[in-house]
Amino acid sequence: AQRKQIDAVLAPFLLSLDTLREVKNKMRAELEYGLKRETQASATVKMLPTYVCGTPDGTESGKFLALDLGGTNFRVLLVKIRSGRRRSVQMYNKIFAIPLEIMQGTGEELFDHIVQCIADFLEYMGIKGARLPLGFTFSFPCRQASIDKGTLVGWTKGFKATDCEGEDVVDMLREAIRRRNFDLDIVAVVNDTVGTMMTCGYEDPNCEIGLIAGTGSNVCYMEDMKNIEIVEGNEGKMCINTEWGGFGDNGCIDNIRTKYDKQVDEGSLNAGKQRYEKMTSGMYLGEIVRQILIDLTKQGLLFRGQISESLRKRGIFETKFLSQIESDRLALLQVRRILQQLGLDSTCEDSIIVKEVCGAVSRRAAQLCGAGLAAIVEKKRENRGVEHLQITVGVDGTLYKLHPHFSRVLQETVRELAPQCDVTFMLSEDGSGKGAALITAVAKRLHNIGR
Ligand code: BG6
Ligand code: GLC
Repeated sequence: AQRKQIDAVLAPFLLSLDTLREVKNKMRAELEYGLKRETQASATVKMLPTYVCGTPDGTESGKFLALDLGGTNFRVLLVKIRSGRRRSVQMYNKIFAIPLEIMQGTGEELFDHIVQCIADFLEYMGIKGARLPLGFTFSFPCRQASIDKGTLVGWTKGFKATDCEGEDVVDMLREAIRRRNFDLDIVAVVNDTVGTMMTCGYEDPNCEIGLIAGTGSNVCYMEDMKNIEIVEGNEGKMCINTEWGGFGDNGCIDNIRTKYDKQVDEGSLNAGKQRYEKMTSGMYLGEIVRQILIDLTKQGLLFRGQISESLRKRGIFETKFLSQIESDRLALLQVRRILQQLGLDSTCEDSIIVKEVCGAVSRRAAQLCGAGLAAIVEKKRENRGVEHLQITVGVDGTLYKLHPHFSRVLQETVRELAPQCDVTFMLSEDGSGKGAALITAVAKRLHNIGR
């Protein structure tokens, strides 16, 4: 009887191949709405033009600063790129903390903090006063009218600083720099997906897609200019930041959202928004697990029916804990120990159930992400007008990197749903800062030519 109850709770997390195909088709439709002039304004998958029009070709060179804001870590980097036969990239970086009260304080405080970190970094590197071109990886949706302008559409994930939405984040950064009386040359603002695609594109010219499965979930890809109706011109390609995390915000995947997904959404900083992201990314998977565990406990199926203080705490299950719990090398006793660390006193049976819940939630996440990616590679294949497509996807993010099964299930799903595409997944080793610097190098060169 107990088994039946647990199965009933987890059943909605099992998605059939047909359901996944349906998700892929819906994603495909939303991609098209985002590209079309008439539907673009109200599209939930925003398909933002990035003004990045090519992947690296090895001729990039120079010394650059890069900022990397919006993932688990905030970094400032110095990137030295050498071109030619002995082309190479050297990087130095420092991680800085962004306290919660700054993430959710005022915009001015946030940007002052960022500039403070840049100043510390320059001092630390012994290059105070150097006026280097800067590439800003800003991992949030921005409407761009050029490579160095980006209006924040809305915060996602754990950020909610005031007075930023609708503002140009490059201007905000410039003003903060001016307030501190120093000078930096901000050349490019880049989404982390785009930075990742470029990082991997430096090694593999066939890399025309960037995927993040981390705190948030998102994809970018090179689209034919003639398909991007809101940008002038029909020649060549431009990278589109899909912001696919917003997929489903019009209710189109409500048929697969569970009551737990809705609870997680309601408890988030941006209720009603980023519904697909909330089913597929690191910041939310642990929360879904927690909601299920609460429900199972209420039904008397777990933790002797006692909802502990810890289980009531939002955010206790971080990606790294899910990843540990689901590791096959881990004995049940160790699972119990992890749960204990989290303040959850469990029996042996409890830990089996918890592991099963984690598995169901993360597997669904990987499958949904795979269904989305299948839509993207299929679109690329049709764009090229080929029977078979060979393509590389550059990937980054803690969920993809740390979780023991996520990447495999994701890849299997893509293979199943896009059989005509031969997709190589390339892990980004250097983060998106390197890609941001490469973009900065190109933008700087073009700018100098234009002068
Ligand atoms: C990093 C990139 O490697 O991956 C970041 O440099 C990006 O820009 C991040 O945001 C995504 O992963 P996570 O898990 O830190 O959100
Ligand atoms: C969120 C952001 C998006 C970013 C993704 C991964 O979805 O809106 O811009 O790429 O997280 O970090």
